[in-house]
Amino acid sequence: MTAIFAHRGFSAIAPENTLAAFQAAESAGADGIELDVQLTKDGRLAVIHDEKLNRTTNGQGYVKDWEWKDLSKLEAKYKFPEATRAIGIPSLEEIFEWMRENEIICNIELKNNEFPYPGMEEKVIRLIRQFNYEGRVIISSFNHYSLTYVYQLAPDLETAALYSSHLYMPWKYAEAIRAGAIHPNIRTVNHNIIRSSIEHGIQIRPYTVNKEKQVRWLIEEGCSALITDDPKMALEIRDSVLDV
Ligand code: G3P
Ligand code: CA
Repeated sequence: MTAIFAHRGFSAIAPENTLAAFQAAESAGADGIELDVQLTKDGRLAVIHDEKLNRTTNGQGYVKDWEWKDLSKLEAKYKFPEATRAIGIPSLEEIFEWMRENEIICNIELKNNEFPYPGMEEKVIRLIRQFNYEGRVIISSFNHYSLTYVYQLAPDLETAALYSSHLYMPWKYAEAIRAGAIHPNIRTVNHNIIRSSIEHGIQIRPYTVNKEKQVRWLIEEGCSALITDDPKMALEIRDSVLDV
């Protein structure tokens, strides 16, 4: 059955990459959440998509230039200003704490393709071990050097190669870099890639799948998972397909 992963949480209805968005995804019945991590000046794992704070918070400048004690006081409500309670940038540790209350899978995207963030891989792996979440996490990145480093440090963890351009036989590429999965942009996916990946034991989870027609197609193809801003819509389609 195709698993439904909530992209940056249920980001269609709540501020992306916030606890509110992850809680909404879990309440909607999503199988997994996807989130992005950046590293602060003092080495904390902050859950935020952009290298800069400007788009999603009331702060400015690079995450890497802020200390966690200041960053954690910012507002991350951006396009949901009507939210009455304060909604801040969570740390990865806070999200892991919340995951104790449920069984959701967490796809951690290392946002280390613009800044390499030395030490980020070690910190993420240490936290996963601390919470015993080895079976509940997937580490993805557009930085495939980083993924191979994660594999060297922790071969038991699943890594997933993110990519946005057409790759030739991506399941072979995944095998070569010892990734257990590919996370392709939906624009690059076709029937052969889904079938061959699954046949070779490579999980395939396209992003960002917000069109109902594409969701239905991936579910009918038996794709491993899909990553969407609207897990409620995707779950309704999955229910309707499975009912037939
Ligand atoms: O992990 C899938 C997707 O989140 C990758 O792109 O830019 O939304 O982080 P982006
Ligand atoms: Ca992401």
